[in-house]
Amino acid sequence: MDNRPIGVFDSGIGGLTVVDAITKSLPNESILYVGDTARVPYGNKSKARVQEFSYDIAHWLKEQKCKMIVVACNTASSLALDYLKSNFDLPIIGVISPGVVKALKVTQTNAVGVLGTYGTIRSDAYGKRLKSANSKISVLSQACPLFVPLAEEGWVEGDVPKSVATHYLKQFKSSTIDTVILGCTHYPLLKQIIGDVLGSTVNLVDSGEATVSSLQSVLTENNLFSDESSGEIHCFVTDSPDTFESLASRFVNGKIQSISHIDLT
Ligand code: DGL
Repeated sequence: MDNRPIGVFDSGIGGLTVVDAITKSLPNESILYVGDTARVPYGNKSKARVQEFSYDIAHWLKEQKCKMIVVACNTASSLALDYLKSNFDLPIIGVISPGVVKALKVTQTNAVGVLGTYGTIRSDAYGKRLKSANSKISVLSQACPLFVPLAEEGWVEGDVPKSVATHYLKQFKSSTIDTVILGCTHYPLLKQIIGDVLGSTVNLVDSGEATVSSLQSVLTENNLFSDESSGEIHCFVTDSPDTFESLASRFVNGKIQSISHIDLT
């Protein structure tokens, strides 16, 4: 048993969708969440920059005595996970492999679509893992940069997000894809509209949700489960906590105990 918190981080607020999935399955685990709101977005930054930012956050979470780290950000998982693993000696998991495992389980046509930021799509982190697990898989990838501000604004239904989604998903409509990975923290908020555009025969894989079973495995293997009766969520942001607080309820249903500012630079 280990009642220390799990550290979870993202470039900003979107990683709270992963916190939401964790607390639904593991309500007695406490979470320290870092949102790097002063330096968001990571999605259009270089690998070196994303690694540097991710290192700062992992270092801080380790100092706070977290028992393990979940990299909720797809861009950081794509560009910095191996780097973090080689620099820190605590269990660290990202969202890419769990999303891949889930997609491979559900696809029948062996044709998978991947949606993500420019950084995630350019790295081909999902595509490489999908193809190395099954050489018969074909992958179509699409960067959807406008989905992030739409989710942040809470503009997740109506004509504007629908026409943005229709534009981004055009190549998927004329393919045999039956499974699409939502490879960005923010995209689960647009799940309804993405599903409407793609049609009900296409499975949508939420990488954050898929990560919970990897998290459970790590807790089991390392005997790290908490025996507290209920966990707490404490958030730390690198920009003003006010903006974060006003948006947080769009991303997470559970109660957030505190939101504080931290300086990582
Ligand atoms: N959190 C990022 C991700 O999942 C999206 C926002 C950003 O570009 O930083 O890739």
